[in-house]
Amino acid sequence: MTLLNNKQNLACEVVEDSNSTNNVEFQTIINRRMNRRSVLKGGTGLTAAAFFGALPLVGCSDDDDSSIVSDNNTAAIPAQGDLKRPETLKFEAVAHSTAETMSVAEGYKAEMILPLGTPLMSGIEDWRDNREQSAESFEWRMGDNHDGMWFFGKKGSAYDPKASDNGLLVMNHEYVNSSELSPFGYYVSQDNNAAPIFKDRRLASDIRREVNCHGVAVVEMTRRADGMGYEMVLDSKYNRRITSSTTAQLTGPVAGSDWVKTKFDPTGFETRGINNNCGAGLSPWGTYLTTEENFLGVFARGQDASQLTAAQNYGRERYGATENFASWGYLWHTPDDKDATISDEFSRWDMTASGVTAAEDYRNVFNTFGYMTEIDPFNPTATPKKRTALGRFAHENCAYAPVKQGQPVVFYMGDDARGEYIYKFVSTALWSNSDIGGGLTAGDKYMNEGTLYVAIFNEDGSGEWKALIHGQNGLDNTNSVLPFNGQDEVLIFARAAADALGATKMDRPEWVSVSPITGEVYVTLTNNKYRGVRDDQPVSAANPRSYDAGGRARGNDNGHIIRWAEAGGDHTATRFEWDIYLFGAPSDLVAENLSGLNDSNDFSSPDGLYFDPRGVLWIQTDDGAYTDTSSCMLLAALPGKVRDGAVMTTSAGQQTQVGISASNDTIKRFFVGPEGCEVTGITMTPDFKTLFINIQHPGNIWGAVTGGSTPRSATVMITKEDGDVILAESLMPATSV
Ligand code: FEO
Ligand code: CA
Ligand code: CA
Repeated sequence: MTLLNNKQNLACEVVEDSNSTNNVEFQTIINRRMNRRSVLKGGTGLTAAAFFGALPLVGCSDDDDSSIVSDNNTAAIPAQGDLKRPETLKFEAVAHSTAETMSVAEGYKAEMILPLGTPLMSGIEDWRDNREQSAESFEWRMGDNHDGMWFFGKKGSAYDPKASDNGLLVMNHEYVNSSELSPFGYYVSQDNNAAPIFKDRRLASDIRREVNCHGVAVVEMTRRADGMGYEMVLDSKYNRRITSSTTAQLTGPVAGSDWVKTKFDPTGFETRGINNNCGAGLSPWGTYLTTEENFLGVFARGQDASQLTAAQNYGRERYGATENFASWGYLWHTPDDKDATISDEFSRWDMTASGVTAAEDYRNVFNTFGYMTEIDPFNPTATPKKRTALGRFAHENCAYAPVKQGQPVVFYMGDDARGEYIYKFVSTALWSNSDIGGGLTAGDKYMNEGTLYVAIFNEDGSGEWKALIHGQNGLDNTNSVLPFNGQDEVLIFARAAADALGATKMDRPEWVSVSPITGEVYVTLTNNKYRGVRDDQPVSAANPRSYDAGGRARGNDNGHIIRWAEAGGDHTATRFEWDIYLFGAPSDLVAENLSGLNDSNDFSSPDGLYFDPRGVLWIQTDDGAYTDTSSCMLLAALPGKVRDGAVMTTSAGQQTQVGISASNDTIKRFFVGPEGCEVTGITMTPDFKTLFINIQHPGNIWGAVTGGSTPRSATVMITKEDGDVILAESLMPATSV
């Protein structure tokens, strides 16, 4: 018997690292320094003026250039009259803090709401620190580790992107802190007679509770009587949990494939559960897009290589599931089957090929996770749909480009693991404004058919998108690493397909967001601490730093934000121009502080990213490299545009194009979370008066804030003390401040 009391931040401590390909060789890059002049004078066949001339000036969102920003973007950008982006940021920057409580800019109020365990229905007792609430009750409580979210304005029973008095707050519960959920802590018994990876057995009730604490929560919120902030509508018919046990439908080219047939559904059209839902997105028609990121962490695989084809083995390993893989400590497959209350409750987390055919075991269950998943919060009985056409990888979040009537819908996505890629999906169907409010039927129209592309960031600052289409670019059964026999295999093993296309390995792509002003696309590359450890994590112009930060492994410890402009402002284009908008760095780490950050705006490990509808960029951090100086934070920023800065050479000797230096007018720290936390998930009400963010895995004292001794993850609701819109002080003429 072993009783472990250590805190189990399992998912956040482990970063998947399965890309051993040599896409973009280190030496090749060293030998191929960017020639800046060639970019501007014709390296892409376009001059800079020709390329960017159509972009509206920053801050001029009333520019009437409809080639970049939709002229009828009701769904994309809730219309707010003539509310413009501020010219400068006028709030007082929040100082570095390692305090046990949160701090927000002066003039604002930050309140904790909806912590882990909060009942969504009456009749369920409130959370108590003895943690004796039943595992089953978590089907009706807030889950753990709140993450990506979206506020859906609601009028009557329908989605209204302009409504603020009432709405559905929909959020992800990414993973669990096992030791803080169970009355027994992280309890494991050992059975030394069992096979190696099954020797540790966890309690059935603990696994059931953890499964229920993953997934998504839908919570109806209504504005408080005093007009400031919101409260939950207890017992609302919309209040709902979708968990790692909820049946989900597989849609698109992978549905029905042999690769997703399991004992649960031998036809391959359904699976059970959504898992490790990280960032989130909104669809243009008003549904919630949730991602499956570190799903690898809850699956186990025994010894079965001899039962599988070479392709099956490679496919698993490219997604981190090597033989004798025992999950990331969750051990969901280990309770005894006699304790199961639904069929295969625990064995379904074991992908070992133990039966004769796939219909007798869960060898393929791993292939039914890792998808962008669509949920209609306005239809509480609708089955979530996994949109396989958008590829299978460690999805971080999803952002769509402003929609235009009669044009395809475009979604951008990142794969968050070391050295993985950035993707976009272009729908076959053409956008119609009449589909707003169309729910999952509209999703069927736009997300089941289309083209998935992967990004290549060239050394000269240009970029291209390569299509992941079966039969093209060598993606067929002659591929030597992994033969592709159909589009289902290209999508299920999108990483391997992208390898074959020469995609650029990135420093862990996290959130994506599209500027409503310029139409340019921004992606956080949170960090890559293994660059100096593994040769397959090369420096490149798009990932140009490698340094020793205080004796840690040599790498890109503090992360950066990359951005690009699609050719001609057309999001379906296959060419783009990129630069690095901002480098994270401690302000006193001079050699790496390439964006000129200072005490008021320095940060490390950018992760959450959100352009509000005015074009203010909100940056959140999930950091471990600078937390001795400041806990994780939220910053507000007013970015310029691609190529507004200069060419620089990093300490690693890599030349790249960097955005204009930061100033206190253009980037400032707005909020610092409690010690030990990650600041993540962000959404704003359509009236701009309430900003919701999430606090994951806070330090111990936060327990008192959430009403007890357990430091529970929670949502934070930020309002302006005078009830005005967020950043109103920056919107006033300078003379009146
Ligand atoms: Fe769940 Fe990559 O953050
Ligand atoms: Ca993240
Ligand atoms: Ca992160």
